[in-house]
Amino acid sequence: MRKQLLSPSIVFLVFSLYCSLSLAQTPAPAPAGPTNVTAILEKAGQFTTFIRLLKSTQEADQINTQLNNSNQGLTIFAPPDNAFANLKAGSLNSLSDQEKVQLVQFHILPTFISMSNFQTVSNPLRTQAGDSANGEFPLNVTTSGNQVNITTGVNTGTVANSIYTDGQLAVYQVDQVLLPLQLFGSSSAPAPAPAPAEAGKDVPAKAPAGGSKEDASVDASAASTMAFSFSIAFIAAMSWKL
Ligand SMILES: *[C@@H]1O[C@H](CO)[C@@H](O)[C@H](O)[C@H]1NC(C)=O
Ligand SMILES: *[C@@H]1O[C@H](CO)[C@@H](O)[C@H](O)[C@H]1NC(C)=O
Ligand SMILES: *[C@@H]1O[C@H](CO)[C@@H](O)[C@H](O)[C@H]1NC(C)=O
Ligand SMILES: *[C@@H]1O[C@H](CO)[C@@H](O)[C@H](O)[C@H]1NC(C)=O
Repeated sequence: MRKQLLSPSIVFLVFSLYCSLSLAQTPAPAPAGPTNVTAILEKAGQFTTFIRLLKSTQEADQINTQLNNSNQGLTIFAPPDNAFANLKAGSLNSLSDQEKVQLVQFHILPTFISMSNFQTVSNPLRTQAGDSANGEFPLNVTTSGNQVNITTGVNTGTVANSIYTDGQLAVYQVDQVLLPLQLFGSSSAPAPAPAPAEAGKDVPAKAPAGGSKEDASVDASAASTMAFSFSIAFIAAMSWKL
């Protein structure tokens, strides 16, 4: 009798583990309630600087409101913390509040672009920073196979992976902070701290030693999803037993 009572819970436990393991391999599911870009980035991890900028510039609220009210959708290029760490010292601090808003908006497109749409978009792409539609703050996309590059005229970022997509909002990780020509180009460079002799040159677009860091962060977030799923399965199994 006792054995017969035990076996369904064991079956359930195994089944739960199986389900959570397969779930862990699919992209993050949409969180409940209205789309919250900060929550999406927090869950992905490694985006604390970008989140801080989104909040301090009020763009996070703006994005959430816009998602709620528009049917065009949005696309966000999110640079991870190591991309910000690779900027020339003082790059962010030398920007005015208005320029910080422009820098953040430069990472946001006013339309939803799926990974496959990148193959067919026509350049230049309008960003949120170029509201006036007069060609300010554009981005160009170049693709080769599945590789998608975003060019600003100052540097080039590569789309590392898709963090979130729901048909309305797409969030992609890019390996570089996208530097707008208007803020970091030679003519209008805010010339951060050192080396005045080199201030006129391009901002160094030093790749952060290959894609290994990106891979590590993906692995880390997959691992945390898995750990989370394990605890869910465990709790589910326990409550079944109780
Ligand atoms: C969005 O998520 C963040 C982080 O989880 C939270 O602090 C914030 O209150 C949320 N905003 C809304 C409008 O729910
Ligand atoms: C979202 O839109 C609905 C309907 O337009 C509105 O009632 C609601 O207040 C909006 N929510 C937010 C967070 O803007
Ligand atoms: C994308 O950028 C990387 C690094 O700058 C470069 O090696 C690669 O050839 C570029 N690919 C495309 C499709 O432009
Ligand atoms: C972006 O693409 C447009 C159209 O092809 C081109 O005129 C412009 O020079 C490009 N800008 C950069 C920075 O690559």
